[in-house]
Amino acid sequence: MAAILVVRSAGLAGHQLSPIAGVAVLQTRGVHNNVIPTGAHTPRGRGGRSSFSGICATVFGGTGFLGRYVINKLGRDGSQIVVPHRCDWYNTLYLRPMGDLGQIVFSELDERDPESYRKMLKHSNVVINMIGRDWETRNFKFEEVNIDLARTIAQLCKEEGVERLIHVSSLNADPNSPSKLYRTKFEGEEAVKEAFPDATILRPAQMFGREDRFLNYYANLRAFGGVPLISRGRKTIRQPVYVGDVATAIINAAKERDAKGKTFELVGPNRYYLYDMVEYIYRVMHRTPFIYPYPKFLYMLAARFGELKWRPLLTRDQVIRDHHTDETTAGVPGLEDLGVTPTSLEAGAISVLRRHRIHRWYEEAVDDIQPAKTAS
Ligand SMILES: NC(=O)c1ccc[n+]([C@@H]2O[C@H](COP(=O)([O-])OP(=O)(O)OC[C@H]3O[C@@H](n4cnc5c(N)ncnc54)[C@H](OP(=O)(O)O)[C@@H]3O)[C@@H](O)[C@H]2O)c1
Repeated sequence: MAAILVVRSAGLAGHQLSPIAGVAVLQTRGVHNNVIPTGAHTPRGRGGRSSFSGICATVFGGTGFLGRYVINKLGRDGSQIVVPHRCDWYNTLYLRPMGDLGQIVFSELDERDPESYRKMLKHSNVVINMIGRDWETRNFKFEEVNIDLARTIAQLCKEEGVERLIHVSSLNADPNSPSKLYRTKFEGEEAVKEAFPDATILRPAQMFGREDRFLNYYANLRAFGGVPLISRGRKTIRQPVYVGDVATAIINAAKERDAKGKTFELVGPNRYYLYDMVEYIYRVMHRTPFIYPYPKFLYMLAARFGELKWRPLLTRDQVIRDHHTDETTAGVPGLEDLGVTPTSLEAGAISVLRRHRIHRWYEEAVDDIQPAKTAS
């Protein structure tokens, strides 16, 4: 879109120039100016960053934790990526080098306007929805983010003839869960399936990776003198998954025709009691764990205060989720069915936890650290 402005320039200081009229053309680029046109999505080149994989993907939630891994992998593959963002343009800069020149197209999203979503996805053959938030904000409740936005994107994908929709939900999504996030994630899945029956739904467990809100969270709790856990974490079993594995699964699901209309549960290879897992985290950090029991009602009370901050330190829903045992559904396919071998916590924890060590660069072989005890 171009706008023509007629400007009157003032005379230069010291010169007797009469005001002159000039014409300036202001150009703003839309997504349609930058992406490969629909119908031209044929793979080209030998594969890799400088070729074209045949995928033109709109990645909603690309500025998030999982999003950066997905964009990185798509970029390395030679895919074209549209990244709708609502944050400041400056905060998307780190994503730019992840693809070849011109392959990553950033566009500002008006998160309240469905037409804005339509513009973002109408030129793509793949849409990945990773929009989510761990807490409710004044502007967006879980229902709006997990159900309404998910439904809107799925409906628009159907209307615009998008070939593949990958919707990221959550493990433990359940209509009867005590956690509102899990309940709304389940309802979101239903809304997506209704609007776009061929959508692939992925339910990752809690993800760990460099910038996670999982291992880093437990590591940072040492500032409170130790790790408070309901029943000392001996009644909760977790099965965390590596974020890179989830990103690979998303891309494989977009390419795999058999994944259409299916739900996948993405979990790590091992199950751990929360207590054993936190103990292991502190072993990797070379710090002594102090895990103390904390009654649920006190935890909920603390969370009520935590919720007062605009970016909550802790929420009551998080307390429930943190102490919820991860359950997979019998017969539902997993990471291996998408061609991914799950990475164990022991293999990935060091890259996250090194910065929490007392002596950050003290090189002890990772193998010397006793692995976490697994739950049967
Ligand atoms: N992290 C986990 O361990 C985990 C586990 C299971 C499932 N999941 C699910 O996986 C998905 C990705 O998780 P994540 O950890 O990458 O999340 P994240 O880091 O919180 O990022 C969420 C993304 O969603 C965007 N977003 C949030 N609210 C929005 C709104 N109202 N309108 C438009 N965009 C909005 C954010 O944009 P801004 O950057 O502008 O805020 C960001 O790009 C989510 O659906 C999450 O529920 C995550």
